Amino acid sequence: MMTERHFSRFDRLLMQADVALRTLVSKPRARRASPAARQEELSLTAAEKRLSAALMRVNHSGEICAQALYQGQALTAQKVSIQADMEAAANEEVDHLAWCEQRIQELGSHTSALNPLWYGLSFGIGAGAGAISDRLSLGFVAATEEQVCEHLKGHMNDLPASDSKSRAIVEQMIEDEEAHGVSALRNGGLPFPGPVKSAMGMIAKAMTESSSRF
Ligand SMILES: [Fe+2]
Ligand SMILES: [Fe+2]
Repeated sequence: MMTERHFSRFDRLLMQADVALRTLVSKPRARRASPAARQEELSLTAAEKRLSAALMRVNHSGEICAQALYQGQALTAQKVSIQADMEAAANEEVDHLAWCEQRIQELGSHTSALNPLWYGLSFGIGAGAGAISDRLSLGFVAATEEQVCEHLKGHMNDLPASDSKSRAIVEQMIEDEEAHGVSALRNGGLPFPGPVKSAMGMIAKAMTESSSRF
């Protein structure tokens, strides 16, 4: 008969270190095919390629942050069910990470050198939110996803019209992130007040501007 194994917080911290290394170093494997695969590669000018790569690099860094936030939240979540939900959400986000990384490579560019920094910061924020309460942690997911959706919708305006592959990826990401936000609130997430969301938006803007360049 199989017995359920219980891991101490230290065991889980070591497992998180392993996840962090795999997220930052190894190639992520998507479970769903990239939406870009259904689109034809149209010819892009060098300037369009550079612009698309910079935008997709920002989105890739955002997905690195999502991994770290969810893993941090899973580490300190009080309820086992919330911990499992956070880990499941992180798994779903791996698709986004893999799709963005593949697209950046197709555009002949690289992911951001600042990703380890974003991972560390986001992990700390996620673990902090999870340690305060599950409701706050879920509210944080909802507020973050709302901002991510706004930001991705902006990218739909900024991406070159001929880059149908990147556009298809971003479109699917918007749909998925909206669903993550809705489910976090449905699971008891605390709705965040507007000023808190504005402050989060300002931090996100600083991160996105630096990731588009480095
Ligand atoms: Fe995502
Ligand atoms: Fe998400």
